[in-house]
Order: sequence, then structure tokens, then C-alpha cells
Amino acid sequence: GLRKKEVNVLCLGLDNSGKTTIINQLKPSNNSNHLGPLSEEWKHVSQTPAPDIVPTIGFNIEKFKSSSLSFTVFDMSGQSRYRNLWEHYYKESHAIIFVIDSGDKLRMVVAKEELETLLNHEDIRSKKIPVLFFANKTDLRDAMSSVKVSQMLSLENIKDKPWNICASNAIKGEGLQEGLDWLQDHMK
Ligand code: GTP
Ligand code: MG
Repeated sequence: GLRKKEVNVLCLGLDNSGKTTIINQLKPSNNSNHLGPLSEEWKHVSQTPAPDIVPTIGFNIEKFKSSSLSFTVFDMSGQSRYRNLWEHYYKESHAIIFVIDSGDKLRMVVAKEELETLLNHEDIRSKKIPVLFFANKTDLRDAMSSVKVSQMLSLENIKDKPWNICASNAIKGEGLQEGLDWLQDHMK
């Protein structure tokens, strides 16, 4: 048969925004019911963090396959001391997922600065790769809407790359599929 096209996706954003939670939702084991119906039930109603998600040290690599693509996802740590690792992967990346904590108003300006640094980097600036934003944690009571997040980050200034922003609740898995479908469509 035909070999699937191999693509690298970089998952970026500040620490605690939900990158690893989003990627964990995509893992098949997370969708199977091997833990039994009780734990399945719990998974859907609980708002508490999954016990196995801890702040990422450095980065993790995860592989996924869709019908047409074979993805390698680089789940980078968002902690400030690790953010200098991000740029080493820019050259090889075919798409970017940038995750924002919609409830973190205080650090929205930090997220904006990191986004600007990313988009101005010489290895990203000239590439027309798609950028998918997740305005994550929509379930938080004072979460900003995706339109508001988009305004705070001045996304309308991105003219040279296809981009999209999706509201998401990574704990429940809401909004993720829509975003990833868009990303796939822009990598064909
Ligand atoms: P670093 O690895 O440190 O860069 O963080 P990260 O972006 O990978 O964040 P992570 O996935 O570890 O999530 C941080 C915390 O936010 C965890 O306690 C998650 O359970 C929680 N979290 C993730 N997504 C959501 C969401 O949609 N809603 C709520 N309420 N909490 C979320
Ligand atoms: Mg992480």
C-alpha cells in the first residue's frame, strides 16, 4: 500500500496550558474502556486532573496515525527554563499547535511574547506551515472566549500562515477533534 506522509507537529505554549493533557486525549488507550465501565464513567464526569499528567520535563515524543498521515508530535515543556529547547525543532516542523490557558489572564501577555518570538524566528518566519491554537480550559468559570484570546494575542496579524483557533476542554476532550481535523486538512 501507499506509505503515509510523515509529518512533525510541535506542541507549544506556556507551562500549565494543557499541552500534555491534549496529547494524552489522542492516545488510543485513553479512549478504550480497558479500565472498566466505572472508570469510564468517572472519566467523563470528573474535573480533577488525570493522575498521570505531570509538568513535562524537556519534551516528550508521541506518534499517531490518521488515514493519510503519520504524525510525530513533540510535546514541549512550557516552563520558562525549557522554552529555549523549542527553537531546535522549528526547522523540521510541518505544523504547530499552540495551547493557551483561557483562564490565565495574567500570563496572556507572556503567551503573546512567546508567540511573537516563535513567529519571528528565522526557521518559522518564512514557512507557510499551519498554526492551530487551542483556547483551552473553557470550563474554567472566568475563561476568556476564543475570540477574546485571539484578540489578546493579535492573531489577526498573522498573514503569512494559515491559522485557526478552537476552544477546548482537554480534560473532557471537547474541541480537540475539530482543531485536529483542520490541521490535517492544511497538511495535505
Ligand atoms: P507543561 O508540561 O509544564 O508545559 O504543561 P502542559 O501545558 O503540558 O499542561 P498539562 O497538560 O500538564 O496540564 C496542566 C494542568 O491543567 C493539569 O492539572 C491539567 O489537568 C489541567 N488542565 C488541562 N486542560 C484543562 C482543561 O481544559 N480544563 C481544566 N480545568 N484543566 C485543564
Ligand atoms: Mg506538558
